[in-house]
Amino acid sequence: SRLVVVTGAASGIGAAVASLLRSRGDRVVGVDLKDAEVCADLSTPEGRADAVAAVLELSGGVVDGLVTCAGLSVPSPALVRVNYFGTTALALGLQPALAASEAPRVVVIGSISGTHPVDQALVDALLDDDESLAVWIAEQAISEGRPAQLYPSSKSALAQWARRTCVAPGWADAGIPLNVVAPGVVLTPMSAALVANPAMKKVMDDAVPMPLHGYAAPEDLARVIGFLVSPELTHVTGQVLYVDGGAEVTLRG
Ligand code: NAI
Repeated sequence: SRLVVVTGAASGIGAAVASLLRSRGDRVVGVDLKDAEVCADLSTPEGRADAVAAVLELSGGVVDGLVTCAGLSVPSPALVRVNYFGTTALALGLQPALAASEAPRVVVIGSISGTHPVDQALVDALLDDDESLAVWIAEQAISEGRPAQLYPSSKSALAQWARRTCVAPGWADAGIPLNVVAPGVVLTPMSAALVANPAMKKVMDDAVPMPLHGYAAPEDLARVIGFLVSPELTHVTGQVLYVDGGAEVTLRG
């Protein structure tokens, strides 16, 4: 059976992915703050290193899939740390174990928000792998009362990182597809407060219009992710797949 690492496996999309993969016989190693096979804090370099070491120990050095769902949406320095570095450090740390698999697959969870306006200095700092600068920019943005671009910036940078990395040495040439799933609004604990507040719901519905089937359930995302992390997926890499009920098309034409 395949061994798939799922970050953020304790809640929402990650929990739905873990459940789907287990139901089809995959072995899932969940990584989360608690309620997971590997409990680690992906907001710190030490926590990420511990997570990679624990996964390598549990897997015996061969990892068939990685799905990075751990993320935060409330603006904070931790958002930048978890959303971006919590994914890139895990993917880079597990690359040798992925390369050792016969059919390795990586799926990163981005967001439709990655198409919204960004703080370019923050995106640049992230793509430069400069965590202290990125955190400093985030702290400045929050203290100056303009936190709204932190989340889009983290997700835009993540998509750009994936496109850059998927054809870098050690990825496509090692047989590792690396794709991004970008959800619209998914009904999870992360979005619950937004959906429950009529004023915030209105802002969100304007920012993320979903004419096809409306808000998604975590299971709707899990089915798409389940395909992208399976051996059935062969020649697709570096793609940002919007699973967003038509939001990206509506917004960008
Ligand atoms: P969620 O809040 O239900 O689950 C996120 C998980 O990440 C939680 O289990 C949490 O403990 C974990 N996590 C947070 N900080 C962590 C840390 N420092 N170390 C380890 N684990 C940590 O959220 P949801 O909705 O399932 O989100 C999953 C991903 O999907 C996130 O990357 C989010 O940005 C993205 N997304 C969600 C959307 C939505 O509408 N719910 C829309 C677009 C993207």
